[in-house]
Amino acid sequence: MNELYAICQTGEIEDGDATGFILMRIEETGEPKPWPILITRKGNNFYGFENACPHKGERLDSEAGHFLDEEGNFLTCGHHQAQFDLDTGHCFIGPCQGKKLQSIQIVIDDGDVCLTGVELAEEDGLGLEEPDEAPEVMITSD
Ligand code: FES
Repeated sequence: MNELYAICQTGEIEDGDATGFILMRIEETGEPKPWPILITRKGNNFYGFENACPHKGERLDSEAGHFLDEEGNFLTCGHHQAQFDLDTGHCFIGPCQGKKLQSIQIVIDDGDVCLTGVELAEEDGLGLEEPDEAPEVMITSD
């Protein structure tokens, strides 16, 4: 299961920023299920995480598309303000202190940020409900 799924281009995520996507993952039962993820960037390194707070499993962006604290330094859960490192997903303050966001395997392929190690449905993602800010998700596989 080493298929690569291109999620976005590297240039679409700025240094120190995070972008959310909702993909469709094929469950073990064979059923497709919405799968919210987020991709962060630190320098020229990219990191993928499931968009689910280890505290209650909710999406971090209670305001759609908003992942960072006010200073823009850390991922922040919009529900109870847990904060996470952009690169490790480690929670250093908040109700889930000491836990981590579930990381996702990311591969950079020819300027594309790709996921691997999962099985996605071959269709467009659902996008976040903020039409102006949410990038279109085009899933292509090699
Ligand atoms: S659900 Fe995220 S801090 Fe509580």
